[in-house]
Formats: sequence, structure tokens, C-alpha cells
Amino acid sequence: MNLPVALRTLATVVLVQLVVAESQLRTCSYFGLVPDPLPGEHWMQAASRELHQRCTGTRHSTEVSDGAEATAEVEISSTPSAPRYADCSDIVDSGMFKRGVYTICPPQYPNGLTVYCRGKWIVIQNRKRGSVNFIRSWAEYRDGFGDLTGEFWLGNEVVRQLTSEGTWELQIIVEEAGYYKKIVLTQFKITGDNYTLHVDPPQPWKLDYVAGKSLTDVSLGQPFSTYDRDNDADGNANCAAQLKGGWWFKTCTGGVGNVDLVPTNLNGEYSCPVNYTGQDYRGMRWAGALEFGNQILSCRIAICTV
Ligand SMILES: *[C@@H]1O[C@H](CO)[C@@H](O)[C@H](O)[C@H]1NC(C)=O
Ligand SMILES: *[C@@H]1O[C@H](CO)[C@@H](O)[C@H](O)[C@H]1NC(C)=O
Repeated sequence: MNLPVALRTLATVVLVQLVVAESQLRTCSYFGLVPDPLPGEHWMQAASRELHQRCTGTRHSTEVSDGAEATAEVEISSTPSAPRYADCSDIVDSGMFKRGVYTICPPQYPNGLTVYCRGKWIVIQNRKRGSVNFIRSWAEYRDGFGDLTGEFWLGNEVVRQLTSEGTWELQIIVEEAGYYKKIVLTQFKITGDNYTLHVDPPQPWKLDYVAGKSLTDVSLGQPFSTYDRDNDADGNANCAAQLKGGWWFKTCTGGVGNVDLVPTNLNGEYSCPVNYTGQDYRGMRWAGALEFGNQILSCRIAICTV
């Protein structure tokens, strides 16, 4: 057996295993695979062909049985020169692992949607230095703001559209004084004209239970609020104006002194540590994930279809 044949055989073996693994267990953290080659095709050619099929072509079958010839339905794209992907997972599946800005074309955006991909995750919020102001209007949170290569909010409307189909996971990574906390929640979507938050409450046996609960306890089922569109459940206050940033606010303080109910708010003011003693809750806050009072240095919110 010469070297290319050996390599191809190896790739096929790995591929078959990965395809089996993926069909049984498709998760967001899983890193993708080489597409299965057509009969007589090198797997590199298959990868390249795969790139050209996104959005405009039918995705070919990923079922491979016992080294038999792969059955594939291939529709050649009308614009074969432009690689197109339905989402960030497709990009990883195509063998490209480099994080960055890509144009994806999910069914809701046939003409393309520009997003930042980190592995299979579509990043919907990123903050790291406070260079972008997050005290923004309803229209700005709806349409998105900031810079996809830096700090940004992708936009409520885009997230609502994307999550209107399929099943999505929500991942939140928060950094405080040198350590990171990661939370993953399932069944994420936002719905309706007020971008109501839906996500499964975390399971008690999971490591991120406390952190996840601090979001779901307060914000689950809440519509989104901004200073100029007060959708919170507190009839006497405008939490978005008071706490800064747009978020799925319910109450502003949870009652004086009840810090447990101060809402998580990752769009709060950067460089403004929450001051519980002074009842100043403007800062970026993730209850349950962090030591009280410490400042959040960076955070990232991302979604992934499973
Ligand atoms: C959305 O919010 C607006 C104003 O805050 C309110 O008038 C409207 O009824 C809400 N829509 C829904 C569908 O809840
Ligand atoms: C927090 O608020 C209290 C009461 O207003 C004040 O005495 C204290 O200096 C504040 N702490 C910080 C770090 O700003």
C-alpha cells in the first residue's frame, strides 16, 4: 500500500468513526469531520466540494456503511466559487478551525449573515476592554452594535431569527481576576417582538448549576428591556436605565438588600464593579459565577445549533 492510499484509508476510517460518533452524539463542543468522499474521490477533494455546496446545494449524505461506497446526493451550486456555510458548525465540519468573521447563510438569511465564529459557536456578545459602550437603545440592541472583531452585541433580531429553527445551546464565559467560568444551557431561543428569553433551567447535578440558575431564576421568560423600552416586571422602576445596558430584566434589585435577586446583567457598565454595600448595581454582573464585588474583566456569549 503506497502512502497516499494508506493516508486515505486512515482518513476514511477516522471519518467513518467520526460520522458514527456525530450521528449518535452531536454536541456543540465536538469538533467536526472531513466530509465523506464520493467513490474515487480524495477526501481533500471532498472537503473542497463540501465548501461549495453550502446554502445553495443539498448537503450530501453523511452516512457511510462499512467502507461501502458513500451514497451522496450532490447538487452543484450555481455559484461554485463562493464557499457558503449554513452556520459556524458547517465551517468546522469543512475542516476550517480558524476563529474569525465568516459569512454564513442559514435559511433565514439566504443572502448571508456576517458573524464571528469560535469553533462551532456563533458569538452573540463579546466584551473585553470596555471599548464599546453598552448603554444603548432598543433599536441598537435589536440591530446590533460594536465591531465583530472586537466588542459587540450581534443583535436581538438576528438571534431571534437564528433560534427560530432548530435546537440551540447557549454558552457564557465570564472572566474575573484571572479565572474563567463557563456556563452552558440548553434549549436557548428568544421569541416575539420583545425578544423573550427561553432556556432550560440547569440541572442540579451539573457543575454550572449555581451560575446557570442565577440567570434562569430571574430572567427566564422575561422580555428584553432597554432604557427606552421598559419591559421589566417592576412597575415602579426602569431597570435598564437604573442598572445600565439592555437585558432580560425582571426586578432591579430584588428588594433592598436582597442581593440574590439582583439580576445577572452582562451588558452592565464595564469598569464599574457592582457595589452591594452601596446598592450600586450598574456593573456587569453574573450572580453565582463570581465572588461578590469583583469586577468582570471579560465575557463572551455564544450560541450553537445541535
Ligand atoms: C412588547 O413591549 C411593548 C412595550 O414595552 C408592549 O406594548 C407590547 O405589548 C409587548 N409585546 C408583546 C408581544 O408582549
Ligand atoms: C460602595 O458604597 C458604599 C456606600 O455608599 C461606599 O461607602 C463605598 O465606598 C463604595 N465602595 C466602592 C468600592 O465604591
